[in-house]
Amino acid sequence: MIRYDEKNKAFLLNTENTTYGIAVVDDRYVEHLWYGAKIEGENLRYLLREDEGPLTLAQKKRETGAFLDCAPMELPETGMGDYRESALCVRSVAGHRASELVYMGYEIMKGKPHLEGLPATWGSESDSSTLKIFCKDALLGMKVTLLYSVFNGSDALTRSVIVENKGTEPFYIEKILSACLDMDDRGFEMISLAGSWARERHIQRIPLGYGRQNVASFKGESSHQEHPFIALVTPGTTQDTGEVYAMNFVYSGNFIAQAEKNQFDSVRMTMGIHPEEFTWKLEPGDTFTAPEVVMVYSEEGLGKMTRTFHDLYREHLIRSPYLHQKRPILINNWEATYFDFDEKKLLEIAKDASQLGIEMLVMDDGWFGKRSYDDSSLGDWYVNEEKLKGGLCELVENVKKLGMKFGIWVEPEMISPESELYEAHPDWAIQIPGRDITQSRAQYVLDFSREEVVDGVYEMIAKVLKSADISYVKWDMNRQLATLGSYALPADRQGELSHRYVPGVYRMQERLITDFPEILLENCSGGGARFDAGMLYYSPQIWCSDDTDAIERLAIQEGTALVYPVSTIGAHVSVCPNHAVGRTTPFETRGDVALLGTFGYELDITKLSAEEKEQVKEQVEKYHKYNDLIREGDYYRLASVADNGYYDSWMIVDKTKDRALLFYVQVRARANAKSRFIRLAGLDPERRYTVEGREYTGNTLMQAGVRVPAEFGDFKSRLIEITG
Ligand code: GLA
Repeated sequence: MIRYDEKNKAFLLNTENTTYGIAVVDDRYVEHLWYGAKIEGENLRYLLREDEGPLTLAQKKRETGAFLDCAPMELPETGMGDYRESALCVRSVAGHRASELVYMGYEIMKGKPHLEGLPATWGSESDSSTLKIFCKDALLGMKVTLLYSVFNGSDALTRSVIVENKGTEPFYIEKILSACLDMDDRGFEMISLAGSWARERHIQRIPLGYGRQNVASFKGESSHQEHPFIALVTPGTTQDTGEVYAMNFVYSGNFIAQAEKNQFDSVRMTMGIHPEEFTWKLEPGDTFTAPEVVMVYSEEGLGKMTRTFHDLYREHLIRSPYLHQKRPILINNWEATYFDFDEKKLLEIAKDASQLGIEMLVMDDGWFGKRSYDDSSLGDWYVNEEKLKGGLCELVENVKKLGMKFGIWVEPEMISPESELYEAHPDWAIQIPGRDITQSRAQYVLDFSREEVVDGVYEMIAKVLKSADISYVKWDMNRQLATLGSYALPADRQGELSHRYVPGVYRMQERLITDFPEILLENCSGGGARFDAGMLYYSPQIWCSDDTDAIERLAIQEGTALVYPVSTIGAHVSVCPNHAVGRTTPFETRGDVALLGTFGYELDITKLSAEEKEQVKEQVEKYHKYNDLIREGDYYRLASVADNGYYDSWMIVDKTKDRALLFYVQVRARANAKSRFIRLAGLDPERRYTVEGREYTGNTLMQAGVRVPAEFGDFKSRLIEITG
């Protein structure tokens, strides 16, 4: 899959349908040759325009500056004359910002190395291989390793960078991006995922102009607002046509993802840790590893890109033993009670839920310390026995008697100014001495760059988890980082806090899933502010959004599923009028939309009507009938209400193509409307399928479509099974 072409000094990384090429120029520069459809048996060096000016250092020294500013570089650097976005900026102790990497050699290995302290895709010696390219900057004594991995049967490629100080003096990494891709423009449009709290990951598509267009976060988390994903697509790209170049970051902190179009109509696409809140002092002998970027190229539109990400993440990223299991249908008390609950209320909910087939009760925020509102007690991780009379163990045992499992909410990274923990350890909060700490939701952020803080909080939470039979943890994170300062870091390392914080979170999650392997972990961050590939390495599911309205969820789940497997999307049925938008939608639609995810309830089930309770039973049945297919199948986007204004439709097709499910939501009814034909996708064209009692070939269903009647009323949904 990876080979070195000695004669042409080129590395070729082949996946099923793609080729990524790298060339060594003048025995010095590591240049980008090609990324795109598979090309084999060809010398691709002509793509470097080596005979066109400006020329390289070896050819004509007087033109080096101009050469550096247009050559396609694998890891462009600051300071020597490439004025496009750089991927590496290093400051020496003398204060100079420049580096000049020279190619030193390579290694091709089977398998995929771990990235120290970071989440990353993994592969075995039999299903993946890795290219390491070694470079050196002699003046700084800096060794840089570029890592590229490919996987059997996948069209994804991963990249990372390792920097080592082999010199005698420290230096400062002021910027390190993990991936850079230079290519000629093809009229690209840029797709990104934009949003807000309760409005996460809406798909945005804009034409790429000259200059730099980026999405970024320096909030300390991947964020509600922008997302560590971008794709460049050729004009007119649809779900099944057009070329797509995508990057997704396996990281949960600050990021920048950018496309830059320059004077020569060349486009540079980059992704990595945002340099805004980042500097890293590297002492002699030390190493810094940049998080991984996953790259996907598709010449069959966005749908193929999506399925490549989904398969890669299901096969090579998510480690949880629950990944391929039907998750327990849960009921969470947050929207049912907010902070106003006691053990009696929880048991009432559990009782009714258990009778309808719901399998787990999740106790959300408010069970610990003195917390009766959001303004206290984060950090005091012991049970409030005034609220939960008899204690946690008794409550859990009573829930278990109903035949249900029990789950619990925690927010380990936070500390309330009004808490015993803050009284005991005021220095554990992230802060700048002498300044007011910025509050957000009346809370501060714990300094997770410090091991003793992570361990201290972990011990408290582990004690709770050991005290009762707990099957599930919802790990929340409800604010962004500000007033950045750590009591544990010296002045010249304060710039490391934002990044050090993230591996601190990872370390605690790793400990949690190692010590409690039977616990199902769901991540969450004020809804979906940290729904990213980094977190998926630790938890097989993430709460997608605090907006549980079925109609709002269409865009949120579509954007999320553009990159992440539907089995990772935390989705619940909630009450109407919906708490986020006040909309009333049919109960059935709420259920059908939540089926495209982990499925559960977030409402006071004791208040449902008898008719709604019957519908819960039907939804539970549908979940059991279809979840294996939904969780493991291929996802096809058929229509988006954002594009057509009226309806939304998606499909899940079993990997064997034996069976499929069509989802359809008529968002807006129209007067005097006829039925609509929805053209299916992903079926075997030759095979015969049965849909609502009638047989068709796969070809007919994909060309002519399935007929969906026009309904009277907004927000109506339909779920149609296709069997082969
Ligand atoms: C966040 C989560 C919610 C809920 C609350 C509790 O907003 O996204 O689901 O857990 O916190 O405070």
